[in-house]
Amino acid sequence: MKISILGSGKGSNARYLLSEFKSGKLSKVQDISLFTDSEDSQFLKLASEFRCNAKLVPSPTTSAFIKGQHEADWISTLSGTQPDLIILAGFMKIVGINFINHFDGKVINLHPSLLPEFKGLNAIENAYKAKATRTGCTVHWVDDTIDGGDIIAQAGVQILENDCLQSLTSRMHAKEHFLLSQVVCAIADTHTYKNS
Ligand code: GAR
Repeated sequence: MKISILGSGKGSNARYLLSEFKSGKLSKVQDISLFTDSEDSQFLKLASEFRCNAKLVPSPTTSAFIKGQHEADWISTLSGTQPDLIILAGFMKIVGINFINHFDGKVINLHPSLLPEFKGLNAIENAYKAKATRTGCTVHWVDDTIDGGDIIAQAGVQILENDCLQSLTSRMHAKEHFLLSQVVCAIADTHTYKNS
């Protein structure tokens, strides 16, 4: 199975998957390539550290949506690696319908809440500020709704009385790393894509 990971920021989830892959724990995975929309992200550095392919597809606008020629650029760039699975891991753009249709049933997203709660940006902060006692993370199939596709797996995280946003965020990330890697293993082991 060939995986493409798309991200815009720190890339801790990509780093975790690459570490698992390089240490042989993702035995059914043949290749991981990284893609980012931001030269400020850690993705290009990660690629040189782990010696994997990486591409920057810069955004021509500040819009949160990938559309028009930009969407066509993403589709053709990603198609070049013929991915079996595309993982949105901290990718801060919203992919368009052409992208979703082109890679039908192959795109998953990691979101830092127990969806359908706290959709959208700043989900950890929003759960913390709402004084929720529990939040968590979700991996779901991507469809044409925002954070609304079919849920593959979720993992809960308690919000402790003495938590600050930073302590909660760091437990959330640890949980995300584990959950995402479990989902990738399950998909790779069974070759169960959404529409197969
Ligand atoms: C993760 O917490 C991920 O769930 C979140 O961005 C972070 C990326 O961390 N994604 C979203 O909020 C998408 N709406 P990373 O760059 O260290 O993997």
